[in-house]
Order: sequence, then structure tokens, then C-alpha cells
Amino acid sequence: MKAETNINELEAKKQREIMERLKIRLSRKSEELGRPLTYNSVCFGCQMNAKDSEKLEGILETIGYVKTDSEEADFLIMNTCTVRENANLRVYGRLGQLKKYKKKNTDMMIALCGCMMQESLVVEKIKQSYRHVDIIFGTHNVFKLAELIEKKLDSEGMVIDIWDGTTEIVEDLPSDRKYNFKCGVNIMFGCNNFCSYCIVPYVRGRERSRKPEDIISEIKSLVADGVSEVMLLGQNVNSYGRNLEKPITFAELLERVEQIDGLMRIRFMTSHPKDLSDELIAVMAKSSKICKHLHLPMQSGSTKVLSDMNRRYTKEEYLTLVDKIRKAVPDISLTTDIIVGFPTETEADFEETLDVVRRVRFDSAFTFIYSKRTGTPAASMEAAATEKEVKARFDRLLNEVQDIAKETCKRFEGSIMEVLVEGLDEQDESLLTGRLSNNLLVHFPGEKELVGSFQNVKLVESKGFYYMGEIS
Ligand code: SAH
Ligand code: SF4
Ligand code: F3S
Repeated sequence: MKAETNINELEAKKQREIMERLKIRLSRKSEELGRPLTYNSVCFGCQMNAKDSEKLEGILETIGYVKTDSEEADFLIMNTCTVRENANLRVYGRLGQLKKYKKKNTDMMIALCGCMMQESLVVEKIKQSYRHVDIIFGTHNVFKLAELIEKKLDSEGMVIDIWDGTTEIVEDLPSDRKYNFKCGVNIMFGCNNFCSYCIVPYVRGRERSRKPEDIISEIKSLVADGVSEVMLLGQNVNSYGRNLEKPITFAELLERVEQIDGLMRIRFMTSHPKDLSDELIAVMAKSSKICKHLHLPMQSGSTKVLSDMNRRYTKEEYLTLVDKIRKAVPDISLTTDIIVGFPTETEADFEETLDVVRRVRFDSAFTFIYSKRTGTPAASMEAAATEKEVKARFDRLLNEVQDIAKETCKRFEGSIMEVLVEGLDEQDESLLTGRLSNNLLVHFPGEKELVGSFQNVKLVESKGFYYMGEIS
């Protein structure tokens, strides 16, 4: 819609003007102090949060802050996640620790944003018990960071700006990319699926797709800037484009992205099994750029539990889908998410999950113990198993998943495959780390000048979840 575009352009312009003002103001402060002003940024949660953090860091760098790994920074921002309880506990723990730095540096500013802040109970708790926090905002107004900082500089007390939802997608603001050669690209925001255990739809709002033209032009400019791999991001990429004025499918979007010259690899996350179309499988099968990896969260192998979870597929449908994908893309790597201990899960249901794990043989799986999220339908369901039983199931599942992953990883041992070199090996700096199309990592000797390039590497030895290799 034209009108909406104008509002967004105006908003972006306004924010850029505020950034200019702040830049001058903060450079005076830095001169006074005789040192650069620093910021520390921490991000919890998923790829979508990571993408938001790149935007936040882009704004902070634009107004003159310099990044530091130290918590003793002039500006500290925590982008929070609330998908499971332990994500929240980490934030409170860290907030407590920060008090001492603020005492030392009274000009220090602490900002909180992200999914946790979309919960009113959380904000109440922070207002009462963590009064050293300066700025709180949510998931819908990340683009406003500069405005909120300016407001804080001009006022006493906490600045709080949380939106319930939004129809706005504000583009064209700075972003500080973590890697030069690969980048996440939002194709949609929010989620409409309301899986009964999940808080994401409540904190990220309704599903909104970006226009394909905007996505394509962002990717083109990333490619011009040296990016060769993109990860298209959304909570359920398979329902992309349905609500656009001119509807388009995710498969059609992929075909358009594929045509971008200079772009070498395309990844996407996350696919909901209920919306994964034959059209998408066909596009993946014929593509030369879409990576041989599909993350397909199954959550549970029990049709009854899946129904209670409101996932809208059965065990058999999931298995059939996996067969179809494997037939079309034979060497694809499949990964998944599994929740153990959903309230209605019995031992027999859990056995169904193990059964699917054994049949599909995932390349890897993220396993989670169910965490009760206030306000979701599952929160009021009674638990069928004790905590101890659930923990025992979790351990059994983890063992099974890891044993299978070790074996499946081995299947490429001895072959030569192309990697995108991502950086120095974190454990041993004489080695480089590269990522295969199927998402596995390979460590191999090489010069750091190769970072960002594609190399053919022999997968000499499988180490279970990664390979040791050599350039071939
Ligand atoms: N949109 C993605 C997942 C987003 S959350 C999808 O639908 O697949 C990432 C993972 O966290 C989920 O796949 C699920 O396995 C897990 N998760 C979400 N809510 C949870 C909860 N309340 N307790 C435990 N795990 C949860
Ligand atoms: Fe949560 Fe389900 Fe949406 Fe994924 S699809 S974000 S699990 S509600
Ligand atoms: Fe967490 Fe929000 Fe992502 S709750 S998993 S950061 S969408």
C-alpha cells in the first residue's frame, strides 16, 4: 500500500534525523570524558532476535558508540527471549549483576528490549525490582532506539515504550552486520499459528510479510556489499506472502531470490510442516543455490500430543512429508526441534517421538523440556508426568538423537565438498572453520585470508557433529 510506504519512509527519516542530533551530542560527551563512549550488546533467543540486534547495533554505532565485550560499558543493551522460562531467569540474573557497574559509572544506560518486554508482568517486575534500568522497549519498535535514548537523556526516570502490535515495517535504517559474507534477511514478522505451548505469537504479534520487491532489493544490495549467503527469516516461512496485497508463495519468492546474480547460497528458517508445499519441494530439488538443509520442527511424534499442541499435522503426515523431501532431494540434511514433557504427553506418546526419531534419523535435533508459558493454552493443562519422569525421557531422547546424529554425520566422510569459510576455529587458531551446504561445520588448516571465500574441502574425519578436513 502506497500510504503505508510513505508513513514508513517518514518514520525512517525522522529516526535518521534524531541519530544525527545524538551523534553531535554524544561526541561532545566523549570529548568531555577524553575517551570513546562504549556499548555492550547481548542477544538471547532466535535468529530473528539476532537480526534485531544487528539493527540495534547499527543505530548505536551510527550515533557514535564503540562496541565492547565488557559489561562496564556506557550503554548496555539486552535483547531478551521468553520462549522458555530459563531464558527469562538469565536476564534477571544478569540485571542483578549490572547494578555495581551503574554505581561506578552514573552516566551508564541500561536498555532492555525483545520478547520478554512484551509481557506486562515482566515490565511490572522490572519497574519494581530493577530500577537501575533506563529504557524498556519491545519487539515492534526496535527502529526507535535512537529516539528512546534521546528521550532518556532529556528526562528523569525509566523510559518505557511497548507496542501491542504493529502494521509498520520500517526499512532502510543502519544495521551492523556480524559477518561480511553472510546475512539474515527478514521476510516476515510475527506468527499466526498459536501452537498451544508457544508464547511467540503473543510477543511478536500477527504475521506480516514484507513485499517481495523490498526483500529482493535488500538482498541485491547485500550481494553488492560482499554477501554470498543469505538466510531468509520468519517463524513460519512456508506461509510467506499469503496476506500481501498481491499474494505470492514462499516457493515463488525463492525462485526470485535464486535469480540474483552473485548470490551463491540461500538458507531459510523456520519451516512449519503443515505449510510445506509440493511446490516448495520442487523448487528446492531444482535449485542450485538453496542449501541442502531443512529445519523441520516436529515437536512430538504422537498424533494426540501434536493435536493438543495445535500443530495441525499427524505423525503419519510428518513421516510422509520427510519421505517426499528425501525422494526429491536425496542428500538433504534434516534437523528438527522436539519438546519433551508437554502436559498431555504420556510414556506411550513419548515412545512415538522416539519412533519418529529412529525412523527419520535426523542429522541433528534441538531438544527442549516443556516450559510453561503464562497466557498460553497449554499453561492450564494438567501435567501427565512428574518432573523426574520428564527429565528421564529427555535424557533418553538426547542419547538417541546424539547417537543417530553421529552416525549420519559420518555418511559424507571421505568426500570432497564445498564450504563457505566462516572464520578461524574458536579452539585452534591455526585452523579455519567452514560451513557445508548441509549446515555441518568442517575445521581445516588454512590462511585467514580465505575467510569469506568458498573452498573445496576433503572431509577427512567425522567427529560426530563436525568434520576435520583439508583443502583439496
Ligand atoms: N517458529 C518455529 C519455532 C520457534 S521457537 C517453529 O514453529 O518451528 C523454537 C523452538 O522452541 C520450537 O520449535 C519449540 O521446539 C521450542 N519451544 C517453543 N515454546 C516452548 C515451550 N513453551 N517449552 C519448550 N520448548 C518450547
Ligand atoms: Fe511458536 Fe508455533 Fe509460531 Fe513456531 S509456529 S513460533 S512454535 S506458535
Ligand atoms: Fe525467543 Fe522471541 Fe525468538 S521469544 S525464540 S527471541 S521470537
